[in-house]
Amino acid sequence: MLKIAVFVSGRGSNLKALYEKLPQSKVQISAVVSDKKECQAIDFSREKKIPVYFVSSNLKEDYIGYNELIEEFKRLDIGLVVLAGFIKKIPDEFVDAFEKKIINIHPALLPSFGGKGMYGIYVHQAVYNSSAKVTGATVHFVDKIYDNGKIIAQRAIDIEDVKSPEEIAERVLKIEHDLLPFVVEKFAENKILIDNNRVRILE
Ligand code: GRF
Repeated sequence: MLKIAVFVSGRGSNLKALYEKLPQSKVQISAVVSDKKECQAIDFSREKKIPVYFVSSNLKEDYIGYNELIEEFKRLDIGLVVLAGFIKKIPDEFVDAFEKKIINIHPALLPSFGGKGMYGIYVHQAVYNSSAKVTGATVHFVDKIYDNGKIIAQRAIDIEDVKSPEEIAERVLKIEHDLLPFVVEKFAENKILIDNNRVRILE
């Protein structure tokens, strides 16, 4: 059984997709972590009785620091950290503590349209402005640089006919909701290998 922690900052539709699609026999969502105290993702977690943690790099009432979170995750035996719409940058010491055990979903085809400031609708706006004919979703390992870690899986979609960035966002979100649970389940099955500097997913 793989125990995961999901990091969120807002709507939480990817968290919901994970909750609904992952087989309980293989994966348990043991913690939800947020930088925002009030958001839909937190409401959902409370409704499903998933333990919630608020994290901040600065000292704040009701928030814990990343070092405390590392200790808590060790206690909970967290085997994978999933960033699902988490906006803040993860501090280096946390990345070191969970090396190759943190993944992120990005709503475009990396290495294009990634990096600092490229989140939410800004990504889709940039894709729209570029007149790109395809976009998609990427799940990648998290390292110390924004959107830079090795790519695990991608799905591409045609956007030749779209009329707005919002329309791109809507189409991409649908594939995110399949891609992220797919990768987490493969991780739980030990079917994600780093081989010869590339990431391979076994059937
Ligand atoms: C998703 O598009 C995700 O790829 C991005 O932020 C959005 C979060 O959406 N990093 P939600 O909170 O999962 O609904």
